Amino acid sequence: MKRVIFKFAVIISILSLVFAVSACESEKEQAVAPGHSTSSQKVKQADGEKIKVGFTMDTLVEERWLRDRELFRDAVRALGADVEILAANGDDVLQIAHAESLISQGVDVLVVVPHNAEATATIVKKAHMAGIKVMAYDRLVKNADIDMYVSFDNEQVGELQAEAITQLVPKGRYVYIGGAITDNNAHLFKKGVFNVLQPYIDSGDITVVFDQWTKDWTPANAKENMRAALKANNNQIDAVICANDATAGGVIEALAEQGMAGKIPVSGQDAELAGVQRIVEGTQTMTVYKPLKELTQTAAKIAVQMAKGETVAINRKVNNGKIEVPSVLLPPIAVDRSNMDETIIADGFHSREDVYKK
Ligand code: BGC
Repeated sequence: MKRVIFKFAVIISILSLVFAVSACESEKEQAVAPGHSTSSQKVKQADGEKIKVGFTMDTLVEERWLRDRELFRDAVRALGADVEILAANGDDVLQIAHAESLISQGVDVLVVVPHNAEATATIVKKAHMAGIKVMAYDRLVKNADIDMYVSFDNEQVGELQAEAITQLVPKGRYVYIGGAITDNNAHLFKKGVFNVLQPYIDSGDITVVFDQWTKDWTPANAKENMRAALKANNNQIDAVICANDATAGGVIEALAEQGMAGKIPVSGQDAELAGVQRIVEGTQTMTVYKPLKELTQTAAKIAVQMAKGETVAINRKVNNGKIEVPSVLLPPIAVDRSNMDETIIADGFHSREDVYKK
């Protein structure tokens, strides 16, 4: 009997391997020629004129976006193209005006980090009317005929956060501090978290006693939410899942006011310097590291391909409420104290001196 079970197990693992390999192959093979290539683009190439990429960003407030801006600029220039970058300070009207200005300057492709996933659909329409293709960068534009989406696997980000925290606290009272409701990523992060939490909730081991979005992702709003969570629960909270390091910073301040910082696990995301320093100090448990160099280089390469009307290799299709958007999603990495050196420091994302403050 044991031998039969063993044979069965071998057959199953061979079959799953074959399936995994063929799934990989089919992912690798996917390719699309997104949107429409305009005749003006072809003329430009024939003239040897430089491709120009327009990049409209929501904000530069969180540390990561400054890095995205710099790395994206370098990556585009390394490909022999030019780039014009504008950041909108979280203002939808300004972001749309920025996009209009880039369109009228005649950029060959437009890359958008939307502040508001829905409001930016109008940017896509306007760009298409001018024959310009549009890529959603990091955050998806919803309900629009967007040509391409390049990001990390954001649902997996939430899964990594919840897996790390449930390993430490498999039973207890949880708080979820989400991102901005206007950001599609915030919904994906939350979905990932609840994919992991749901079985614990169903078995009664975990109760989510507080669950709130954080307006505009600000630490101050996250701190207010956490204060409210502590008050409503008489400080009886065992773990906090925060959507990113910025919100974790606010949450940890609220915990510190109650003498609880470092006493309960808190998650984050982005590998911000302040976040990784808190991990070393012990007030934050983990972060999710997203190698931005890889993201910016991938996005820059694809943007230039789109501008030239070339075929782009993709590994996913993501539904944005209107279409299945050709996408490239990169894998995020969970980081805690144990793998800080081999990830964030080894990649040069932060220096050892900065992380350990010595
Ligand atoms: C990004 C996160 C970032 C957050 C706030 C999200 O869309 O994916 O990396 O922390 O926005 O800017």
